[in-house]
Amino acid sequence: MGDRDHSGVLPAAEEKAAAVETMFDRIAGRYDLLNRLLTFGLDIGWRRRTVSSLDLPRRSVVLDVACGTGDLCRDLQHAGYKAIGVDFSAGMLAAARTNAPLVRGDALGLPVRDGAVDALTCGFALRNFTDLPPFFSECARVVRPGGRIAFLEVAVPTSPLLRGGHAFYFGRVVPFIGGLLSDRTAYRYLPESTRYLPSPGDLATRLAGAGFTAIRRELLGVGAAQLITAERA
Ligand SMILES: C[S@@+](CC[C@H](N)C(=O)[O-])C[C@H]1O[C@@H](n2cnc3c(N)ncnc32)[C@H](O)[C@@H]1O
Repeated sequence: MGDRDHSGVLPAAEEKAAAVETMFDRIAGRYDLLNRLLTFGLDIGWRRRTVSSLDLPRRSVVLDVACGTGDLCRDLQHAGYKAIGVDFSAGMLAAARTNAPLVRGDALGLPVRDGAVDALTCGFALRNFTDLPPFFSECARVVRPGGRIAFLEVAVPTSPLLRGGHAFYFGRVVPFIGGLLSDRTAYRYLPESTRYLPSPGDLATRLAGAGFTAIRRELLGVGAAQLITAERA
């Protein structure tokens, strides 16, 4: 995010894509380490749940959008799927540890033909996109009818007690550890960026508007993460 101070300031819409790309290029080297540390390894189980939610035949083709360093691609392959990753950060792709094919591209203009994939996954990236309706339209375009989507994202716990602890951990501890081991600005942006997420109801309405049915939301990790799944009508 360049030299901007993100204590309460998120990039303007027109700067967001470039700012996000630069930020992930910068933190790519230690991204996996920080993920494991900051979620106490819970992210591993959350990704596996994302993959198992697809429930499609082996060898189904799954596009993992905003694949980053390829964690979901690896889990998809492990489950027998043919995974393809797309991300716009060259740094994240260079740091990837997967033998799945990876393509540099934008989630809002996927380099994939219409109806070409059986499913689409996206981990911890919705809040980084400049706008969600164009992304959902892209999902509807590339996923075949009857195909599945699974989006893994952060969430804010609903219980007041957990909410307080979560706010302290996500708002204070994450930027502190992120700053020690990687990049403080980026790890201040990451918690703040949850503000970009629409409410669960809005998100479901937008997905339905894009052409998805059977929309479900599952809370994971005492409500610190959410899995949104749906089927292409
Ligand atoms: C928090 S990381 C998540 C990486 C990976 N999915 C995971 O679960 O660890 C967000 C990723 O989204 C990518 N990203 C953000 N906006 C994007 C866009 N418009 N097109 C493609 N990739 C994007 C970033 O480059 C980054 O790799």
